[in-house]
Amino acid sequence: MKTVNNYHIKEKNVLLRADLNVPVVNGFITEKSRITSIKSSIHKLIKGKNKIFLLSHFGRPKGKYNKKFSLEFMCSVLAKEFEIEKIHFIKALNDQYIKEKIQNMSFGEVCLLENIRFYEGEEKNDMNFAKGLAKNFDVYVNDAFSASHRQHASIVGITYYLPSVAGDSLLDEINNLEIFFKNPQKPNTAILGGSKISTKTELIYNLTEYFDNIVIGGAMANTFLFAKGFNIGKSLVEKEFIKTVNKILKKAINYNCNIILPIDVVCSNDLNDSVNIRHSDIDDILSDQMILDIGNKTIQIITKTIFSSNMILWNGPLGAFEYKPFNYSTIEIANTIKENAKLRNIITLAGGGDTISAIKMAKSEEGFLYISKAGGAFLEWLEGNESPGVKALKENKIS
Ligand code: 3PG
Repeated sequence: MKTVNNYHIKEKNVLLRADLNVPVVNGFITEKSRITSIKSSIHKLIKGKNKIFLLSHFGRPKGKYNKKFSLEFMCSVLAKEFEIEKIHFIKALNDQYIKEKIQNMSFGEVCLLENIRFYEGEEKNDMNFAKGLAKNFDVYVNDAFSASHRQHASIVGITYYLPSVAGDSLLDEINNLEIFFKNPQKPNTAILGGSKISTKTELIYNLTEYFDNIVIGGAMANTFLFAKGFNIGKSLVEKEFIKTVNKILKKAINYNCNIILPIDVVCSNDLNDSVNIRHSDIDDILSDQMILDIGNKTIQIITKTIFSSNMILWNGPLGAFEYKPFNYSTIEIANTIKENAKLRNIITLAGGGDTISAIKMAKSEEGFLYISKAGGAFLEWLEGNESPGVKALKENKIS
């Protein structure tokens, strides 16, 4: 695969696909790691005196211009993060605008293009659109692993028309994710949470082959408990996935993978009810309550498992962590991983939007060797699906 490190890029017009789809609250970016991660590629390209054009999606505007999703506000943020004087901006992916900008820009300068998802051709991976996109550039750099699970024109189509290389952030993501499959340090443990089993069945099914232990928490554990015959009261459950859950449990036995489910839980009447909180074993849940967190006995089992593991993968909160006090177990586990990592030389990796927020909430970032910036792309990779964007880079023969 060609990369920004092994492919000579000097004084060229470079189109760099970034993932600037960052969380924004009241006009402020609340999490910048996707921006900081592309700094390395950007600086290498600046050093090579290239004219760099940043391309990204932002939100889901569905092929139409929508001011709310304009990327223009990001120019000043990017300039600050990249420690450069100025970032140019092009308000439409118009051939003429791009040509003029290339003429007016000096080598070593950076320009941000407007949101690629304002164009219908993007999500359709329209080849004519991709060809038009490629037209004014000499090289394409994909530095957006977190968007590379999408079969879109700026991820896949474009690689048919330009020499295409991987950026440092994308390389960093794949190298770290591959460690788990290519160099497993046993015993290893995956801690999986989140609310919907429907979004994670493929993931759990695939991981049973690679992990000695899989901890299941969050509301998705409810479907497992329900499948095992427990009364889970008013808890969230996806009954249509009972068959799938049983299939996972069966596969886990075949692969000697120990599935750890909650043995006790914290319940209440609803997410906002911190008055009627009740701790109970899973065979004693009241019919009018719902499970909102795992209990202390379960936390202890997970803690023991963490301390006897050499590799830990974490995705998804273990309780309704946005609602205090149901964030308790998630914070505890984040801290336990941090403590364990301090004492022993273990490999710890986490990913997914909620997981990153939880780790930050617990201030336990230092406990993780690597925190993936990807959400959906992270899950799809762990499910065993090859990323279309990474595949396109590997297959690119244009030089
Ligand atoms: C993400 O936030 O996971 C990526 O930017 C992909 O966004 P999407 O799910 O809208 O394609």
